[in-house]
Amino acid sequence: MKTEIQFIQGDITRLICDAIVNAANRTLLGGGGVDGAIHRAAGPELLEECKSLGGCETGQAKITKGYQLPVSAIIHTVGPVWHGGKYQEEELLVACYRNSLACAQTQHLKTVAFPSISTGAYRFPIRKAAAIAVGTVKKFLEENPDAFEKVIFVLFSERDLEIYQNIL
Ligand code: APR
Repeated sequence: MKTEIQFIQGDITRLICDAIVNAANRTLLGGGGVDGAIHRAAGPELLEECKSLGGCETGQAKITKGYQLPVSAIIHTVGPVWHGGKYQEEELLVACYRNSLACAQTQHLKTVAFPSISTGAYRFPIRKAAAIAVGTVKKFLEENPDAFEKVIFVLFSERDLEIYQNIL
């Protein structure tokens, strides 16, 4: 079964699917951007569960319930901050996508949505990040053909949507 890859523009907190991925920071205690939007929409119980996780290393992923969001789970991953590309940033961004998918696969979650990890406050160049995101997800799906029904990239701007769509 071929897994569908979709690109849409919108607010990931409005998406109805099995799991959404959060572009968090190492404390997992919330922040701005998509992290802030997810915590606001999920409600205060999300922060309570996050407090019990003891943080998350860059490139790793940890899972919580979805609470008031229309999803079963939220997968929190910590993207690399861009420092010019000589500090394993690319490898760490690959790890974010792989570890998030592995986390979802373990929990038998079949539809997973990603924001554009690290391309906001963490300043990762969007075209480079998009190529890594799409390439890493495609490779994981080829290696695990029956793991997922659909993977959705949810871009916040029209510009980001066009960049991601042009990768394929
Ligand atoms: N839905 C989808 N995408 C969103 C949303 C949303 N509601 N809000 C923002 N985005 C997009 C941004 O436009 C950007 O393209 O998510 C992408 C990632 O940007 P950030 O949220 O800034 O995440 P990141 O660059 O990974 O920086 C993470 O920012 O919010 C803090 O706590 C977070 O410290 C961490 C850092």
